[in-house]
Amino acid sequence: MKENIAVLPLLFTKAIGLSAKMLYGFYRVGKTRMFPKHDFNYDHFKNLGLVYFKLTPACNLRCVMCGQFGDKGVMKDCIAEETKKTLPLEQWKKFIDEIAPQRPVTYIWGGEPFLYPDLFPLARYMVQKGLYVSVNTNGTLMERHAEEIVRDKWSTIFVSLDAFRDVNDSLRGAGAYDKVIAGFNAINREKKKQKSNYPVLGLVTVVTNRNYLDLANLAEASREYDIELHMINLGTYTNDSIVATQRQFMREKLDTDIDCLEGYNTGYNLGIDAQKFHEILQDIQNKNYGHPIITVPTLNPEKTHTYYAELETPVRNHCIVPWCQTNINYNGDVHFCADYPDYILGNITQQPFREIYNGERANKFRKTIHECEGGMFPGCLRCYQNMLFGKKIKGY
Ligand SMILES: C[S@@+](CC[C@H](N)C(=O)[O-])C[C@H]1O[C@@H](n2cnc3c(N)ncnc32)[C@H](O)[C@@H]1O
Ligand code: SF4
Repeated sequence: MKENIAVLPLLFTKAIGLSAKMLYGFYRVGKTRMFPKHDFNYDHFKNLGLVYFKLTPACNLRCVMCGQFGDKGVMKDCIAEETKKTLPLEQWKKFIDEIAPQRPVTYIWGGEPFLYPDLFPLARYMVQKGLYVSVNTNGTLMERHAEEIVRDKWSTIFVSLDAFRDVNDSLRGAGAYDKVIAGFNAINREKKKQKSNYPVLGLVTVVTNRNYLDLANLAEASREYDIELHMINLGTYTNDSIVATQRQFMREKLDTDIDCLEGYNTGYNLGIDAQKFHEILQDIQNKNYGHPIITVPTLNPEKTHTYYAELETPVRNHCIVPWCQTNINYNGDVHFCADYPDYILGNITQQPFREIYNGERANKFRKTIHECEGGMFPGCLRCYQNMLFGKKIKGY
């Protein structure tokens, strides 16, 4: 697979502002590697480079591979009850006031963030505070809000599409594809009308055994979307044995019962023909669709089979998330791991974030992961954050 760095020149010509901010964000996160991981009196708040806002537990789709609402989704049966716990706008604003001076990159997601009733005033406030605001959405509710999104100058929208129309809709639900395209068109119309380059539009695709053969069709169709970036995520997967090992580990070391990892035990990694997938990717990467295409992670093509068929084999290690990132859940709970909100560090409705981030529970987590072989827990083998920011293992 092409290294993602190879797309930077094209990205720069498409969106110089995004590239500069992205580079700055990655620099902030990357420099965390240099810090001594064992200094637990350090003010880690100073290194905060990326903050995930999981605004809502609600979603209007049921994508099959989704760890929250898919076949194995851990949120499926409790959404109504959990939705009552979402934070009010004022509480989020208070949190933003606290973190804004650190200038972290922010990433709004969910559930489906367009279902959070105050998404627009919140994003507006974040932009006013000078934050780089990116929103990850299924894109089905974007069209009707296009005027406001462009006017409010959101930095980036990452929209999920997993294949061309029929295959996408077989995974994400009937009509999803056409709604996303209508959303892209509406945003691009507004950008022209308001003479704005923002938001930068990105497409995100998760690879499963149900869509990998259709990726070329999606890439071909994407010529018409007028987007700035296409990110192909190789997918988060686990299996029974990894879940069991992680469960025991977290109980013993951090006195925590885990629920969330099981959501990614979907089996949608099984049967992916690595050779064929590599050929498809190579073909896509050799063409020019008018926007850069990156994969997360980038893998040595010979290791593609390992990624999908040998989940016990690490491809990245030395997680840096606890030293520079955080995820705030819809109810105010603070976590390190965005996809696995099991270990709670504290809650922003009860304590200043800085105290939580430097607190005893946070440091216990840091110490435990630091002492693990390879600097990561046994369950983190295909964790998305580790695929993005973990240390590349030689040969992979
Ligand atoms: C959980 S969704 C939340 C935001 C929004 N609802 C959406 O679909 O974009 C966040 C991202 O995770 C991706 N995702 C879903 N299931 C996944 C899986 N099993 N592995 C990796 N990413 C996954 C989605 O496609 C989306 O890009
Ligand atoms: S739209 Fe996003 S959160 Fe909703 S089911 Fe699909 S991947 Fe999950």
